[in-house]
Amino acid sequence: MQKLIDFRTDTNISPSIEMMEVAFKSPLGDAVYNLDPKTLELEEYAAKILGKESAIFLPSGVMGNLVALLSHTQRGEEVILEENSHICTSETGGAAAVAGLMLKTIRSQDGAPKAQEIESAIRPYDQHYPKTSLICLENTHYRYGGIVVPIERFKEIREISEKYHLPIHLDGARLFNAAVYSDVTVKAFSQYVDSVMFSLSKGLGAPVGSMLCGSRDFILKAIRFRKMLGGGMRKIGWLSACGLVALKDPNLYSRLLIDHQKAKRLAKEINEISGINVDLLAVQTNMVLAYLGKEVNRLSLLKFLEKENILIAPLGKNGLRFYISSDIEDTDIIYTIEKLKKGISI
Ligand SMILES: Cc1ncc(COP(=O)(O)O)c(C=O)c1O
Repeated sequence: MQKLIDFRTDTNISPSIEMMEVAFKSPLGDAVYNLDPKTLELEEYAAKILGKESAIFLPSGVMGNLVALLSHTQRGEEVILEENSHICTSETGGAAAVAGLMLKTIRSQDGAPKAQEIESAIRPYDQHYPKTSLICLENTHYRYGGIVVPIERFKEIREISEKYHLPIHLDGARLFNAAVYSDVTVKAFSQYVDSVMFSLSKGLGAPVGSMLCGSRDFILKAIRFRKMLGGGMRKIGWLSACGLVALKDPNLYSRLLIDHQKAKRLAKEINEISGINVDLLAVQTNMVLAYLGKEVNRLSLLKFLEKENILIAPLGKNGLRFYISSDIEDTDIIYTIEKLKKGISI
């Protein structure tokens, strides 16, 4: 039987055998009381590789971002961020509803606001204005197909943030993918920000969780907000052990590079089919955004592909979004291209 090929997300990777074996043999303790050995080890290790003093484990990336917003700001203050950032578009308005923040959004072509644009968005002191208190960046940028905000941009934005004494939070859900594309380690990016959230549950392959890293004082605040949001988890050693296996994998970077290469291959082959188009320059990491010509009926195409055991997410009016994870094999790409050709010509 044809296996199910699921391009809709990169969160569906099956945990490795090693991960499962290590996980279920791990000791358990109450992590809220810092008594869970694997969670302590994971937090220490994550902080080290991100070059920060401290880190915490949270159930999700959304919670990690929200806890960061709460820890950096006060209610009624303003956060500067790109208009299509995940925090702005895909976190159910938590920044406003929970943290009481105003969002000052910046339009961009590529998810990477320019330093001058950020500087122009910072409010001067005026009794009428909300206080600007945080800059948020995202890397890789999810709405623009996983493209990478270059390190140079981080450096320029850091100069502005220091000039105005503003902290920077990085939504680095897929920061390891950005590092692989840029041929650097994650520290090359995190050195320019005050806090960073990254996901264990996406390309890294752990079943659950995200890490939030920053200074010791920042993390002490973050621990309270995590608790307030219900993210103080108890015997999570099995989950933390999975995170540790993922992070300590000596082949982590080369494994992600293979995902990127597969995404490129898929994109190139899609581009050879008439009626569907990909901007190849935008395929930098593990995502491919493809756009259908007017002559193609997307709904019928997606239904046809689903019958052939291929799941793809619709995107905007006429787009398709493919995520590549390590569960997608070369043969799956060949099969998908064959079925796409057929589905488009029906
Ligand atoms: C850029 C970005 N940030 C944050 C998140 C949220 O992560 P989670 O799904 O773990 O809450 C996602 C999820 O896809 C994401 O793509």
